[in-house]
Amino acid sequence: MPPQGLGLAPRLRYLAGRARRIDVGSVLDRAKEASALHGKWTPAIVVDMLWQAGLRNVGFQDYIDYDFAILNRAERATYMTHPVSNQLSQKYDDPAFRHIFQDKVEFDRVFSEHLHREWMVVDDDNADDVRAFAERLGTIVTKEPVGQAGTGVHRYHAADIEDWDAFHRGLLTRGELLIEEVILQHSALAAVCPGTVNTTRITAFFDGEKTHILAIAQKFGRGAVSDQMTFGGFYTMLDDEGRAIGPGYDSHGHVHVTHPDSGFVIDQFQLPMMQEVRAFVDRVARVVPQVQYVGWDIVVTPEGPVLVEGNWGAGVYENKPSVTGIRTGHKARYRAAIGF
Ligand SMILES: Nc1ncnc2c1ncn2[C@@H]1O[C@H](COP(=O)(O)OP(=O)(O)O)[C@@H](O)[C@H]1O
Ligand SMILES: [Mg+2]
Repeated sequence: MPPQGLGLAPRLRYLAGRARRIDVGSVLDRAKEASALHGKWTPAIVVDMLWQAGLRNVGFQDYIDYDFAILNRAERATYMTHPVSNQLSQKYDDPAFRHIFQDKVEFDRVFSEHLHREWMVVDDDNADDVRAFAERLGTIVTKEPVGQAGTGVHRYHAADIEDWDAFHRGLLTRGELLIEEVILQHSALAAVCPGTVNTTRITAFFDGEKTHILAIAQKFGRGAVSDQMTFGGFYTMLDDEGRAIGPGYDSHGHVHVTHPDSGFVIDQFQLPMMQEVRAFVDRVARVVPQVQYVGWDIVVTPEGPVLVEGNWGAGVYENKPSVTGIRTGHKARYRAAIGF
């Protein structure tokens, strides 16, 4: 590995951690899934999955999500994977600054000028402020600030609330301490799913001078408060011009040629204002330059892009070959920008 490479020690630590956590049942389930889908022998897939995980930094979910069962060695090597992404986060996201991204309240404070919406924090005695905020805006989104892995976002309508003291106490008890105004998305996004604010996930690397966009994924919801997969959401990758490269998919084996509720043909999607989006990502990437590798959730609104959150543990959104017919991933872009 070149001197600026990711280093053997963190890699070994990560692998050792993984080996301890291997859930044999889930590996078998995933292998059976891949075997049924691609007509391959299950034991061969199990061996291949373990081999890829141990020696090639391919997570089990990566193996399934990006159809490694049908890719050859050279094609597989073009794919970004979760273990590699985790190593990049460890190396390029300074631990002393990660808390800004981990805590949604702190994030909103530090990035407030890029949110373009109102927000407030619930405390022990501000029931009246919460009521005034919610009644003025009509609908609010509340968030549990730390570590809810895609489930800590909720939506309330002021008109449904009768007892404001009880509502306020409930927010405190459940830890829904951040309240935000609902983002108004661009009509091009509302055309696909009007009931959910559909975010664009832009994975980017700031090298100290320049911001590199590594991958762009467009998420779509199903009408719930959040577009995350835990709420039934799915995604498609976009090219640098913001065009969808194919149909949508999730990590649960669903493929969506059209949006199941609106009928919108996913591969016809075009994200508007791409030039503004690129400039916006460059601006937000400079706010905390110590955290260089980030998955930004943004929303294009009629007035331009706004920030939802930044994920220092960026995760991976990649092209799914069985859905798009394209057998190449984004790793070359990561390598070119980051130099590993
Ligand atoms: N202020 C908001 N207005 C409308 N929708 C929102 C708002 N904030 C978040 N969402 C929706 O909820 C999703 C999850 O929010 P986010 O803050 O990214 O939390 P997490 O990804 O940690 O669950 C977003 O992708 C978006 O669909
Ligand atoms: Mg998010």
